[in-house]
Order: sequence, then structure tokens, then C-alpha cells
Amino acid sequence: MKRLLTAAAFATLLVNLHAQELKLTRENIPEIVSAMTTQEKVDLVVGCGAGWGNPDAKFPGTAGWTRAIPRLGIPSIYFADGPQGVNMSQYREYDVNDYSCTFFLSGSALATSWDVDAAQAIGQAIGYELKERGLDVILGPGMNLHRNILCGRNQEYCSEDPLLSGKMAAAWIRGAQSNGIATSLKHFAVNNQETNRKENDSRVGMRALRELYLKGFEIAVKEGNPWTVMGAYNYLNGVHACENEWLLTEVLRKEWGWQGVVMSDWDGVVRQADAVSAGCDLIEPGTDADREALLSALEDGSLAMETLDRNVRNILELVVKCPSFSGYKYTNDIDRRDHQKLLRRVAAESMVLLKNEGDVLPLKPGSVGLYGVSSYDLIPANMGVNGVNNGVYHVSLVQGLRDAGFTVFPSVLREYTNYIASEKEKIASAYPPLYKQFFRYPRPEEIIPGTGVAATEISGALTVDLGLKQVSNAPRLTLKEQAETNAAAIITLARGTGEAFDRTASEFELTASEKMLIDSLSAVYHASGKPVIVLLNVPAPIETVSWREKVDAILLVGQPGERAGESIADALTGTVAPSGRLADTWPIRYGDALADKNFPAEVGQDLKSLITPRASREGRDLVPNIDYTDYDEGIYVGYRYFTTSKTDVAYPFGYGLTYTFFSYDKASVEASADGFMARVTVRNTGSMPGREVVQLYVSAPAGGMDKPVRELKGFAKTGMLAPGESETVEIPASLYDLASWNERKGRWETAHGTYHFCFGTSADTMQTDCSVKI
Ligand code: BGC
Repeated sequence: MKRLLTAAAFATLLVNLHAQELKLTRENIPEIVSAMTTQEKVDLVVGCGAGWGNPDAKFPGTAGWTRAIPRLGIPSIYFADGPQGVNMSQYREYDVNDYSCTFFLSGSALATSWDVDAAQAIGQAIGYELKERGLDVILGPGMNLHRNILCGRNQEYCSEDPLLSGKMAAAWIRGAQSNGIATSLKHFAVNNQETNRKENDSRVGMRALRELYLKGFEIAVKEGNPWTVMGAYNYLNGVHACENEWLLTEVLRKEWGWQGVVMSDWDGVVRQADAVSAGCDLIEPGTDADREALLSALEDGSLAMETLDRNVRNILELVVKCPSFSGYKYTNDIDRRDHQKLLRRVAAESMVLLKNEGDVLPLKPGSVGLYGVSSYDLIPANMGVNGVNNGVYHVSLVQGLRDAGFTVFPSVLREYTNYIASEKEKIASAYPPLYKQFFRYPRPEEIIPGTGVAATEISGALTVDLGLKQVSNAPRLTLKEQAETNAAAIITLARGTGEAFDRTASEFELTASEKMLIDSLSAVYHASGKPVIVLLNVPAPIETVSWREKVDAILLVGQPGERAGESIADALTGTVAPSGRLADTWPIRYGDALADKNFPAEVGQDLKSLITPRASREGRDLVPNIDYTDYDEGIYVGYRYFTTSKTDVAYPFGYGLTYTFFSYDKASVEASADGFMARVTVRNTGSMPGREVVQLYVSAPAGGMDKPVRELKGFAKTGMLAPGESETVEIPASLYDLASWNERKGRWETAHGTYHFCFGTSADTMQTDCSVKI
């Protein structure tokens, strides 16, 4: 008996010793899962809260981290928001160091580059900064489709086209993850409006879902292989995106063959056990209430332990790949200069030249009158948690122009500087800080320097004086004197947005004072024979048709990031030729797009009261576009609608000028192993160097379905071509790429018939046409 006891005690001792030694490795994940207690498993699948506003977090100002389980050698892994850079507090308590990270260009600005190499390089730089700051997961890229031009988060995303979105996101992911850190592709899926974003149900048919809203994600997942995917806030056809088994398990994992961690959006889970069962591995940012809900679901049987184990395994598979697991010795020594150079070039190249009458650009250095409040107060980036350091520091346009050899006309500068300071003071005291953070902060009305009045007051007699005389120290010159002295007028128009709010239809329009500014300056400058150049510092389309004839050049600068002023000066002077092309159709009016019919474009005050988190639907009728949004337009989003319905637009998708011209020759299409290879030779026929965006559009036969006139099926960007130089571009398109989703049969189908492969310089302008039969 005594001998038996001793043997049992010995066995227990061995097990305990083994447990003590059992530490997570890449090979022993199943063993680790078996050794975890229920509490530990629940702890792992629920995050540890957010690092924003938490000075005690290891990385203050970051988005969150997972629970460590030291007895099993499981470390925490740490998340920071993207996609414009690594978002963390610049300063920490009791710490003299500066933890700033590069504030890159916004997703929509990067998308207009149509340059996957640039996307990869930016992703790589962001991933590097994340790793050297000690973190593991960058929460980006964002790539929901631009269904409506007013969506408040379009600037984080890419385009109205899924192929462009998917390819750019895939490249960004490959670049970031080449550092051995994780990305989080977000927000999966159909998260196309911010109004009532946690309650709104996106109701969309299967064809549009497959061909548009999931297509971009499919490309990014298959070609980029992000280690994590972030679920969305909205419902999709009645089921919450983070609790949607069809989306997270059937499509993402089984159909697309992806293996990784799905995390919820922050506070995006409503029913914890449903989320875990659906395949949402990690609940973020995580609360004790989430843990308790999971424990009781395990107890009452509504959540199976095997399901929880599956998610725990997925998380551990991620943990073992992360720098925190390998004990990576991060340096915190980030020399941002190379990244700033990269940003400066990419941002300038991504700019889209919309108009250049009389070749007024490139501009030679000289004296310029810089007008518009935003010329002195650029919006370099997206605000809110997806910005960087929740603060804005950037190279101003004034500095950028001065460094490039320009003189910024002093009296105009002084008037604006004083005016903006006094207006901002008034605005700041009238609005809570949250507004500022999300950029719903009103900007001062435009003024007309030299008149002392707000532009809105100018129409009648000039009797109103807003007191600018008192705040301005510089002698005030009349507009006429300004125009006589300066070589050109530069006006900046800006719009800002951030998450949680959509733009309104009135923000698409120019304000009365912006129109007045353009009118007055163009009249006076043109009378002196001087050009007027407009910079659009906007995240998405605005109205252009009513005023574009009055100005000479229009440059879409987007949200160019922290070197904004330098990038703009480079593009204006031609130091870097802007070679961006629109990633969205610019409509003539808001309301022209089919999708505009169902969108909360002007959310009235009464409806605002409904837009509270988790607004109760009890006891009231559901409100369209608030509680649900019907995607009645189906696949006819963006240029698919405008080209098919022959509706006129201000600027088509894919449009953009540069400082030179290109010819398209020797276009051909040949059968390849899995589809076709299209080729074309592009030659620089102008007198300046430049890069061309080669866009391949395909018109497919109907095959018993309704088809858009044409769809983008591939694109490439040439290298820098000197005048006379040419490049042959090859773009593949597989049979799968050419397929449409047959709703009746529930499958992809490549119709038989004649396909036209056309190289176009926009969705409206085809340069070549080669047909093939399938
Ligand atoms: C946003 C996400 C973000 C998360 C963490 C949420 O509000 O929707 O895009 O990654 O916060 O900061």
C-alpha cells in the first residue's frame, strides 16, 4: 500500500512538473490548449481593454492587447491603430522620449496612386515602425467599398471599385507583414455608412455582395494573407457582422481558405457567445462583462468548449508568430527621415491633376497669393482613432512653398493667420473636444483678404467689417493690388471627416463663402492675366461643375499626410509629376448615383436622437437608412452605374492628367493557362517625364445576366518614362476574374461569348479594343 501511494504521488509530481515546464512553442499548441483552465481560455479570447486614455497601459494611446498567461508562456500581443500610421501617444508620463510615428497619407489618397508598389512600401514602413515601437498588430488596412461618396470613413478606405481596393490592400498587407508583424484587414464586411453604425443593417443581394462588397476582401485575403481580419459594426442581412457564421466561417475560412484570427471591431460584439461560435476569435477591446457572458454560456451549454478551444487555438497560432512571443528587442529608435521621404514622394505622385488649362502648371517659383482658410490650415489626414497620435503636426503649405522658392504674399498670409486664430478660439469654446477629435469641428468661414469682410457679406454694399483691422498688423492691399503683384492665386478647399459620422449632402456643395472666394479671385486675377489654381484637400468628391470653368488648374491633393506642404509644392512645381487617377467617380450632383437613393445624406435633428449606440428599436417603426439600408442599386455602384446608364459625370473613375501625354499601341490579348494575358505598349509622347496608369476594362457578354457596360479587370503603373520612352505592360485576367455571380444558381459563372478587353484612360475613355471568344 505504502509503495502504491508513493508511486501515485510520484506520478502527480511528474504531471505537475511537466505542467510547470509546459510553455507555448510553435509546435505544442494543442497541448497548451488542453492544459488551459476554462478561465484562462475565456481570458485569452477577450481583450484587456483599450490603451487610449490609459496612462498605465504598456503602450499608452494604443488600441489594446491580449491577456498574458505566464504559467504557460503565453505573452500578451499588442495592437495599434492604423491605417495611416501607428497610432500611439506621442508622450508618456514620467518619460522624456517622443514616441511619434510617421503620419502617412490616408487610404483614399494612397488609392489614387494606383501604384501597388507604393502601397507595399507604405505598408512596409508602417509595419517597421510598429515593430520597433514594440507592438505586434497594426489595425489596417481599411478597405470597405466606397458605396456612397458621403460615407464618413471613405478616407480610410480605397475606392468604389473592389479590384483596385483589393489589390492596394493586398500590397499594403504584404509590405507590413514582411516585418514579421500582423495586419488586420477591416471592417469585414459591408460597413459602408457611419450613421447608426452599430445598429444599421446593410441589406444587400448576394450578387452585389459577392461581386462588390466581398470581392475586395477576397482579393486582399487571397493575395495578401493578413494574419488577422477585423469584423464590422453593422448587421449584414439581419445578422451582426461579428456574429455572422456565414461570413466569418463559411466564406472567409472555408471558401477562401484563410487561416487567421478574426477580431471584433471595438465594442462591436453584442452577443458574446454567438460571436465566438460564429468564428469571431477575439472580442475587443474586452470587458469583464464579456468574460462573464462567455462563462455563463459555457455553463448553460449555449457555447461548446470545442468551439472555444478552436478560437483559442487560432489566437495561439497568431501569438507564436508575433514579435512579443519571440522576445524581439525593439529599439524605439525610429529614424523617420526615410519614411518621410517615401511619404513625400508617394503623396505627390498620388495627387490627381483634374484640370490644367493653358499648362499653367507646373508653376515656376515666384510670389503667390495663398487663399482659403485651409491653405493655412491643411487637413493632412483622417482624424479619430485611425489617425496618428490623435494630433496633427505637418509641414504647412506655407513652409512647403517657401522651401520650394516661392514667396507667400505676406499681407494675405497675415490676414488669414490672425483671422483663423481668432475664429478658432471662438469655435473651440463652443464645441466639445470629441467633435474636434472626429473632425466634426466647424471650420471658419472663408474671407476675402484685403476687404476686411467675410466672403458671404460681399454680395451687397461692403458695409460689414468683421474687425479684421484690429487683429491684422500687416498693411492691407486690395485684391487688385494682390493680383498685380502675385504670379498666381492658389486657393485651397478642404473637407474633413472621421469615423462615427457621415458627411452630409450639403458638405458635398461649396459653401456660399467658398463660391464667393473663387468668384472674386478669378475675376480679379484673370483681369491681371494671372492664373487661379485650386487645391482640393478633400477625402472624397465634392461639387466641381459649377465653378471649374472659372479657374485654370485643379489639383486633388487628398489627405497627403505629415509632409503635406512639401508634397503639394513638389506636385505644383513638377519636381514630382502628379500621376494619380481618380479611384471614385466624381458626380455632377449628389443624388446622381443610384446608391444615393438609400443613404442618410441629411440626417435631421429628429433622427439624430435615434443614433445612439445600441438605440432601442422597441416600440417604434424601423427607420430606413438609419435602422437598415437597402442596397437596391445592386451591382450598379460608382462607374458601373454611371457608364451603364450613360449618366454624365464631373470626372469619371480612373481620370487624371499629368504633365505629359501617352500613346497606346500594339494592344493584344492572348489565351493563357487560366485565362488571358492583355498587353499594350505605352509611349510618352509629351515633353516631360511621367508615369501612366494603365487600366484594363472588360465588357463581358450577358450570359443571361444583366452586365455593366465594362468593369476594371486589371491595372498597372508604368515606371517613370522619359519623353519618347515606352514600356510594354502585361495584365493577366483569369476566367475566375471574368466571372459573375449567378444568384439563381448560387455560383460564379464565366459566360460564353465575346469579351472586349479595352485599355482605357478612365472608365469613360477607351484607347484600344481587342475581342476574344470564350
Ligand atoms: C474602429 C476601428 C479601430 C478600433 C480600435 C474602432 O472604433 O472602428 O477601425 O481599429 O476602433 O481603435
